[in-house]
Amino acid sequence: MAVKFPEGFLWGGATAANQLEGAYQEGGKGLNLADVLPGGKENRLKLLASTGFDFEIDKSKYTYPNHEGIDFYHRYKEDIALFAEMGFKTFRLSIAWSRIFPNGDELEPNEEGLAFYDRVFDELAKYNIEPLVTIAHYETPLHLIKEYGGWRNRKLVEFFERYVTVLFNRYKDKVKYWLTFNEINGATHMPILGLGFSPESEETRLQDSFQGLHHQFVASAKAVQLGHEIIPGSQIGCMLIYAPVYSFDSNPENVLYAQEEARIFNNFCGDIQVRGEYPSFSERYFRENNINIEMENGDLQLIKGGTVDFISFSYYMSRTDKKNKTPEEIGQGNLIGGVKNPFLDASDWGWEIDPVGLRIALNELYGRYQVPLFVVENGLGAYDKVEEDGSINDDYRIEYLREHIRAMGEAVDDGVELMGYTSWGCIDLVSASSGEMSKRYGFIYVDKQDDGTGSFERSRKKSFYWYKNVIATNGEEL
Ligand code: BG6
Repeated sequence: MAVKFPEGFLWGGATAANQLEGAYQEGGKGLNLADVLPGGKENRLKLLASTGFDFEIDKSKYTYPNHEGIDFYHRYKEDIALFAEMGFKTFRLSIAWSRIFPNGDELEPNEEGLAFYDRVFDELAKYNIEPLVTIAHYETPLHLIKEYGGWRNRKLVEFFERYVTVLFNRYKDKVKYWLTFNEINGATHMPILGLGFSPESEETRLQDSFQGLHHQFVASAKAVQLGHEIIPGSQIGCMLIYAPVYSFDSNPENVLYAQEEARIFNNFCGDIQVRGEYPSFSERYFRENNINIEMENGDLQLIKGGTVDFISFSYYMSRTDKKNKTPEEIGQGNLIGGVKNPFLDASDWGWEIDPVGLRIALNELYGRYQVPLFVVENGLGAYDKVEEDGSINDDYRIEYLREHIRAMGEAVDDGVELMGYTSWGCIDLVSASSGEMSKRYGFIYVDKQDDGTGSFERSRKKSFYWYKNVIATNGEEL
């Protein structure tokens, strides 16, 4: 039976400024976090998991693929025309904070940066493509990282407030849908990305991460309040990385363990951003992990008054876990931990493929919060081969997306209120966790290779035509 999606369902694709724009020093842009992250799986993953990173660029040792990205900064018109050809209803992009405030702590914004996004939004409007804007997507200005220590420092709340106020006032007639912090709950795993600091040691990681998160909750709540005031009718969402946690077996100890892990990873941030309160389970978790959060008077009221309108999330994988892992089992799970699931295949990067998990995720989230949901990232990172005639036959990607979209349709039929779907990296871009171009997600191929060579030329993959038909039939033909 064909699955059905609601009328007006927002089909589209998702990206982030640092992974596609390039032009890292043009238009008055200041350096940001992504500009100091090296290319290559080994280098980047090691660094993201490490402690004590100095946030310096060292071109004698590393390459920096985000500096050029896929040159969207100069080619956005061509790219948006291709999105329109696929029939996109929405396009998710982020604004690079350091294009607007190059250092992050200035009083006045950079006009050239603001004008760039005006041009992008105007181009989208030509095709009736609704922008979905992430305000912070792993792009903390470098100056805020080096001088202030990233989100551990309360000062960032004030700088963020200035930044979002400028965005809302400037784009109030152009952007209705906003997301505050990308994958906010990923912070404790990789604080460098979301919180812009590298832990001094494993002992300080949790304390500093939860303090940084608290600052982001306050900042996000302020953004929601400001957004509603400045742009009546705007819809502002949180953004989670969501991975249902399965118990490895029916041993109650393992079931309990999986539940505890899910609470802190999947539910903690959502509970605060959607319900406006620290969840009751956090007290015990903080006590047992020696976490003490410094709050200011009024923080909790602010959080309560700035709850989000909807939940957006990325879904790539589920996680299977057990309490006592053998040394061999540790590291065998997904990027976010756990153990190997014997029922699932994995991508070439070891990310387990689990479409049913997306239906589970949607039902868990809707059951818990009863607010509209938006899947704003999902997709298969894969090696693509360009045939001699220039075609790219990415049937594996079509298969992956088909199964995930079908699972979403089932969840809609289960009663979940779903606003839309933006698959990740609708055009090939630099991978966030591995700094590679060869980990491709796109419907559109970009001739840019890991060694920095390539013409940046764009071409349509087989999945391009497939997704175009999915959108045209509102998901009826998969
Ligand atoms: C999400 C991020 O975690 O996953 C994106 O929000 C990222 O920025 C995407 O690109 C896919 O991950 P990766 O590491 O394959 O690029």
